[in-house]
Amino acid sequence: MGRPPLIALIGGTGKTGRAVQAALSGVGVEAHALGRAASADLSAALAGADAVYLIAPNLHPDEPRYVADALAAMRAAGVGRVVYHSVASPYAPAMPHHLGKATAEDLVRRSGLAWTILQPCAYLQNLQAGVMTGALSVPYSLETRFGLVDLDDVARAAAVVLTEPGHDGATYELGGPALVTLAEVAAIATEVLGRPVTATRTDPDAWAGEGLGEREQVWLRAMFGYYDAYGLPTGGRVLAALLGRTPATVADVMTRWQ
Ligand SMILES: NC(=O)c1ccc[n+]([C@@H]2O[C@H](COP(=O)([O-])OP(=O)(O)OC[C@H]3O[C@@H](n4cnc5c(N)ncnc54)[C@H](OP(=O)(O)O)[C@@H]3O)[C@@H](O)[C@H]2O)c1
Repeated sequence: MGRPPLIALIGGTGKTGRAVQAALSGVGVEAHALGRAASADLSAALAGADAVYLIAPNLHPDEPRYVADALAAMRAAGVGRVVYHSVASPYAPAMPHHLGKATAEDLVRRSGLAWTILQPCAYLQNLQAGVMTGALSVPYSLETRFGLVDLDDVARAAAVVLTEPGHDGATYELGGPALVTLAEVAAIATEVLGRPVTATRTDPDAWAGEGLGEREQVWLRAMFGYYDAYGLPTGGRVLAALLGRTPATVADVMTRWQ
């Protein structure tokens, strides 16, 4: 038997990267997590890696440029394979950060490397803080539908495509097992946690975006507007096939938060 692939995680020190590293560790594969310091000489940081899991920072101002630079560093370092962490419905021109990922996907497909693309829906974990306070406030509709997904399931799917053959040239959308509204999420939380969790749609125009720059605020407002009108429906069958089981439900994930 050959040695296991050496895997580097670009953006591996953040929320997503830590989950992917833990999932790889769960299948006995140690991965090298790179943070922003590695971007100073990325090809040197990638030396010896067979495959890269590529995660861009949240709301990067120019994700196609960031991905192009990372792909160039991979080629310079002799990396053979890339798995790119995109998003569900990347070609949504109303949301600049989704559109950046759509453009970056095209760069990945034309990179000359063996490639796989994962398109996760929004993580259930994004809602944890609000749910735990009992007041889930969002500046978008409580009635539009999302394929909210367990980040740990996304990470396990990433580990599958990184360590098993047969995923070159594949683009996989990764949603939870059912489409849910935020009103339903609050009802499930009330049931699972055994205490009231209310969902409230706050006025998007009153959303302050505290601590964020002007551009990030504009981009997030655009996302809220899209969520308000359309949600982010995402199928769950592909994730189930990759995991070999039903992905975690909203209730499954919240049971862990008790
Ligand atoms: N949250 C969701 O529901 C969701 C769903 C689908 C897709 N995504 C996508 O997942 C990606 C990662 O999200 P996340 O929550 O894991 O992000 P995160 O926790 O903020 O982690 C970001 C990573 O990027 C690195 N980084 C930050 N600024 C950088 C820079 N200027 N140059 C190079 N590296 C930099 C960070 O390194 P340091 O540790 O050194 O700062 C860290 O490793 C985003 O592209 C997001 O769009 C998120």
